[in-house]
Amino acid sequence: MIDLNASGKGLDGYELLAAQVQALFADERDFIANAAQFSAFIYHQVADLNWAGFYLNRDEQLVLGPFQGQVACVRIPFGKGVCGAAAATRQTQRVEDVHAFPGHIACDSASNSELVIPLVKEGRLIGVLDLDSPTLARFSEADQRGLEHLASIFLSLSDC
Ligand code: SME
Repeated sequence: MIDLNASGKGLDGYELLAAQVQALFADERDFIANAAQFSAFIYHQVADLNWAGFYLNRDEQLVLGPFQGQVACVRIPFGKGVCGAAAATRQTQRVEDVHAFPGHIACDSASNSELVIPLVKEGRLIGVLDLDSPTLARFSEADQRGLEHLASIFLSLSDC
């Protein structure tokens, strides 16, 4: 059993979360298991989220993967909505007000802002990590950097 609060390194914020994510995946590389754990970890450790999870690249279409939150739409074409934009451009989408985003897909009406991080490994788009918040402009640049770092740790420690 890993004690996630016993790093003893005096870390805080995203540095602490990064150390915890390293520990969480130290002994397991299965992608689905780690993706499920990661979505639960993010959902419970990052404040003010109503949805956290994965959409996976299945033949140039995003298909729902492990997540925490309300039931969500299952398939999203590349280029559609915030997730589709992240997949098509391979650029993180940090959206302060999803209602002002062209083509936004409203899975959970509670969502007001969104951060979607493309997951690219060795040139391949594995999918995207999608985080939704009920608060407008929930995600700062520092949140984006911190969460991109956590996603990169997840990717490097998972087989895919
Ligand atoms: N709002 C997303 C769809 C996924 S849900 O938020 C879980 C979008 O526009 O891509």
